[in-house]
Amino acid sequence: VTAAAAARPVVLIACQGVDTDAWLAALGRELPEAEVRVWPEAGDLAEITLAVVWRCPAGVLGRLPNLRGIFSLGAGVEAVLADPQLPASVPLVRLVDPGLATGMNEFVTMRVLHYHRDMDGYAADQRSHTWAPRAPPLPQDRRVGILGAGALGGLCARTLAGFGFDVASWSRSPRVIDGVRNYCGRDQLSDFLRRTEILVCLLPLTADTDGIINRRTLAELPRGAFLINVARGRHVVDEDLIEALDSGRLAAATLDVFREEPLPPQHPFWSHPKITVVPHISAVTQVATASRTVATNVRLLLAGCSVPDTVDRSRGY
Ligand SMILES: NC(=O)c1ccc[n+]([C@@H]2O[C@H](COP(=O)([O-])OP(=O)(O)OC[C@H]3O[C@@H](n4cnc5c(N)ncnc54)[C@H](OP(=O)(O)O)[C@@H]3O)[C@@H](O)[C@H]2O)c1
Repeated sequence: VTAAAAARPVVLIACQGVDTDAWLAALGRELPEAEVRVWPEAGDLAEITLAVVWRCPAGVLGRLPNLRGIFSLGAGVEAVLADPQLPASVPLVRLVDPGLATGMNEFVTMRVLHYHRDMDGYAADQRSHTWAPRAPPLPQDRRVGILGAGALGGLCARTLAGFGFDVASWSRSPRVIDGVRNYCGRDQLSDFLRRTEILVCLLPLTADTDGIINRRTLAELPRGAFLINVARGRHVVDEDLIEALDSGRLAAATLDVFREEPLPPQHPFWSHPKITVVPHISAVTQVATASRTVATNVRLLLAGCSVPDTVDRSRGY
């Protein structure tokens, strides 16, 4: 590290599709001890010690010789890990942030309650001017299953358990959450799926989880189950999902994320009567909270402390 770089941390915001002016102002406020620059006005690249990234322009990270840390503005880091220029030994920290978590918790709870209370059925009744009250099952008789029991899946599981739902989670290693039954590893995936009436996907996208919601796994859900995918589009095999909906195996799906975003205008998901499409808004990174989280993590890293939520590259999340 050059003397200049050691003296004053220089943060480079290298993002596409985010309000970089808002991030420049927020990080300037939260990290007054640092100098903050925005790509492509990066100045001398050797002075950059920290990078804040989201959809980072290709090749940027490989051109920063004194980089000490990379901070993602999203929870999922599969795109950063896929960058062939990603320096091998620089810590990558993903975003675990109260603003993001609140949004996801609201969205997942809203859609679980929507399906639980048959709001699609009442919307159809309204269209045909039908007055047909039905008693919903008690929440303890409704089995919700969350793929992923981490920062976001764990929070949603706790909230839904608080509503009284019969909640289970599925993770790689055992995860204890009060009132939530945990299944872990591939060996227990079938048992988890067979009990799950409302399936929520909150897994990271890795080699292990790519395409995990497919014909075989969908066939293990009880007939008439619901899917809420708020993780990544690649978790779902699109054709298999449509087939499961058309055959009645699955009752309905809410999709926030897609293999290609924006979802192409001709994609069959747009007009499928059992699919609700929203444009990747289940949890939006909130500058006000996330800039504080990033600043805290930057300080920990510069102080030589271990930074929570540093990505384990061998696991891929
Ligand atoms: N739609 C949106 O707007 C939006 C917003 C934010 C995040 N996301 C997505 O949500 C994902 C989850 O975020 P997070 O912060 O909750 O991540 P996290 O804290 O890392 O949690 C990931 C969970 O998935 C489990 N998992 C990972 N690989 C697995 C495997 N092969 N088999 C079984 N379980 C596995 C982990 O198991 P262990 O507990 O054993 O580690 C952990 O419980 C992100 O990666 C991102 O893709 C989407």
